[in-house]
Amino acid sequence: MSVTADTRVVLRDRTAAVLRSNDAGGWTKASPNLYPHQWSWDSAFIAVGWAQLDVGRAMAELEGLFEAQWSTGMVPHIVFRAGPDARYFPGPEWWDCAIAPSAPPVQTTGICQPPVHALALQRIWQVTPEARRAEIRERIQALYPRVVKWHGYLATQRDPEASGLVTTYHPWEGTDNSPRWDRALARIEVVKPRPYTRLDTRQVKDPSQRPTNWDYDRYLWLVGQLRKYRYDDAQIYRQYPFLIKDVFFSAVLVSANAALLDLADVAAASAEDRQRLEGWLERGRAGLARCFDTESGLCVDHDVRADEEIRLRTFAGFAPLFAGTADAGQRAAQMRLLDSEDFCGNPRFRWRLLPSTSPAESVFQPRNYWRGPVWPVISWLLWRSLSSLGYSDRADEIRDDSLDQIAGAGDFGEYFEPFTGEPLGSPRQSWTAAVALDWLAAEPARAS
Ligand code: DGY
Repeated sequence: MSVTADTRVVLRDRTAAVLRSNDAGGWTKASPNLYPHQWSWDSAFIAVGWAQLDVGRAMAELEGLFEAQWSTGMVPHIVFRAGPDARYFPGPEWWDCAIAPSAPPVQTTGICQPPVHALALQRIWQVTPEARRAEIRERIQALYPRVVKWHGYLATQRDPEASGLVTTYHPWEGTDNSPRWDRALARIEVVKPRPYTRLDTRQVKDPSQRPTNWDYDRYLWLVGQLRKYRYDDAQIYRQYPFLIKDVFFSAVLVSANAALLDLADVAAASAEDRQRLEGWLERGRAGLARCFDTESGLCVDHDVRADEEIRLRTFAGFAPLFAGTADAGQRAAQMRLLDSEDFCGNPRFRWRLLPSTSPAESVFQPRNYWRGPVWPVISWLLWRSLSSLGYSDRADEIRDDSLDQIAGAGDFGEYFEPFTGEPLGSPRQSWTAAVALDWLAAEPARAS
């Protein structure tokens, strides 16, 4: 079912209003209160939304983010743009990135998030009107080498084994309290971090929607370790306890490399850059193929320190679909699994949308962040992949169900309860509004 034409018009106005009210002038708050600074992958999705309103503003979102790029190529997960008065914990003093020789002069964190930026750049170009093509082409040409450098950081510093898989250093590098990290976190004997006060649980009053204090102790202790190694990747790789080959992160890099290759002519990319991108793309595909578990039909993460596979049914197991795998057998297996009771086909789900963790897992919690809820940005990535893999009917259903979910909730929640559709986490989350805007533009108009 699709939202009616009238609902679409109202929804479009409301999505645009969310982006405009979170616009801080050239960059966008991830959400008005809970996340008052600029977040890396949020900004990429936000740029996808801005592109539907103003392609120049969409470019500015990415250009501003990349001004905070580290000299290693890393794009930091938060740029603390809102200044010291913004209420967010942990702030720049916990990270103290000035101790890292590669950090930029602006205040940032010392970790990163999945590289959705190239997908945003590709989307911006796709929707750029003829009249603005020359200007946007020039801006893409200026930004492109920085994005290549970012991918280069992930393909080398974050993959010294040249496995094609990106190593994540911290749960905050994407899917915070996903059960994928539970065992690795449990192995850490936490020396208590210095005393701290969480602010997130003041904003989101129901603590069952957020990570626990047990999680936070470990998140903060890990930040302390990274700080101790002055954010030096080589040293981190030698000594740091939390290193995980993350199949979802790796899949995003694969599709981001493909997106950069797609833009290579627009960006007037050098032959050398094209060659490097092709190499990383091939290596990424091969790495993911090696992690595919034929028995479960899912891709499995690998804990580098424990040298063990992480076997859990979560959205990340669909890495081959997110990466747009060319392997027909894997695709068919994953499509069957996607609509099985363990995932979208669960009969109690309100919509056939992918939950962050399968309801068949004992750790599933339908209200808790990455442990069960549906995240519209993940649905957007899946929609995009399925569309380009040729599963356009299933992709359209995901888009329509997602728009229904958002329209019915009456708010742009950060994530949604899969049985009831209740919006959870932060209200007026920018990236939720952004992907809704993009979906609305992609949805054929239907009579009410
Ligand atoms: C948070 O504060 O929960 C964020 O996910 C960290 O990036």
